[in-house]
Amino acid sequence: MIINLEYKNGELSWGEVKLRKIAEEFGTPLFVYSADEFLGRLKLLDRCADYRKLICFSLKSNSVIPLIREAAENGFGADVVSGGELFIAEKAGFSPKKIVFSGIGKTNEEIFQAEQKGILLLNIESESEYKFVKKLFSESGGKLNFGVSFRVKFEVELEKLHPYLGVGKKDSKFGLSEEEAFLLYEDAFKSKIYPNGLHFHLGSQIKDMEIFRKAVELAIRFLSKLKEKGIKLEWVDVGGGLGLDYENLTEPSFKDYADSFKPIADEGYKIIFEIGRAVSAPSGILITKVIRKKKTSAKNFLIVDAGMTEILRIPLYKAYHKIIPLTQGDSEQPFDVVGPICENSDYIGQNVLLPDLEEGEFLCVLYAGAYTSSMSSNYNGRTFPAEVIIKGNRFFLARRRQTLHELISRDQID
Ligand code: LLP
Repeated sequence: MIINLEYKNGELSWGEVKLRKIAEEFGTPLFVYSADEFLGRLKLLDRCADYRKLICFSLKSNSVIPLIREAAENGFGADVVSGGELFIAEKAGFSPKKIVFSGIGKTNEEIFQAEQKGILLLNIESESEYKFVKKLFSESGGKLNFGVSFRVKFEVELEKLHPYLGVGKKDSKFGLSEEEAFLLYEDAFKSKIYPNGLHFHLGSQIKDMEIFRKAVELAIRFLSKLKEKGIKLEWVDVGGGLGLDYENLTEPSFKDYADSFKPIADEGYKIIFEIGRAVSAPSGILITKVIRKKKTSAKNFLIVDAGMTEILRIPLYKAYHKIIPLTQGDSEQPFDVVGPICENSDYIGQNVLLPDLEEGEFLCVLYAGAYTSSMSSNYNGRTFPAEVIIKGNRFFLARRRQTLHELISRDQID
């Protein structure tokens, strides 16, 4: 559910703000976020998880600084996966002591950078990465300026997830098997590196809480095996992955989600959440304008000014996003809503029931705050769209539209 997004006198509004007004002022395609929805969701999880924890917002789902700054200012942490995201997190004001860093291909430089900044946890994903951390440890005289944790692949049934989104599987490139990780924990402990965290991330779009509960059982068994060896950790980073129903605009309850991890907290560990989508997707919409209407014998198309450059997740995962008009109409008929990009896969919705809109009218793509702007591209010479934030009853530009000059600014022309 998206709070306060509703039609008022036939015009779609978010709180007190009429969306048509923003679309006309800033142009389209345009991402619009509600800071209240975003922060409200983080605070809701915070209240539901009634145990010691740190909620780290996953910057890969959205990294628009004026939006994520809301999280930083309210004491939340950040989950990053690259030196770039680490840089963004710092600029947004996240304390390094609240930053966790995962990623299968962290470079030595990135690990070094994370050490310099003194982040909370580095989630190690391979033996080679561990070896570099060990080298860093000995070169710096037996101390490390970050917490060490290993990412473990607990084998839970993930078959129902999209093959690209179930990353905790045995044959995925991510993390370490329980056996591999156990040996590295032992080695680290013997070498006095003293790891203080365990990390797992099962995948994304998980709506069945049983999947999390199963992983929690396996994690507790693993933690007790470590304890038998004298290895007692402080943090258990349970990754992200809470899913949403993009068709009905509903989601599993945050309370049920938070309760799934309570057994780990009850064992005395502090929990880290790396939540992304469930916070950011419903906090954003994409507004797009109908450029052309094209009626053919096979189909009726609405050709709009947004496409796979702004919302790649539709063709990439055959994902569904609900599309509604900014102005309500009476009759409805099926349209394929397609982008202007030269690819057959460039569509936003197929057979969408919509009023018979005129060219120049606006459409709104819902649940567009996660993995959209952060995955956008300049393909077909398209400039990055503007992004606006609504906060209370005011709105402001968070990221301006990229200019044509910027599009070519990295090319050595003369
Ligand atoms: N932590 C790790 C280690 C991750 O790999 C991810 C997402 C998250 C946390 C956040 O997961 P979330 O709570 O957002 O599910 N582009 C895809 C989603 C890819 C997710 C990648 N990892 C999409 O558009 O659906």
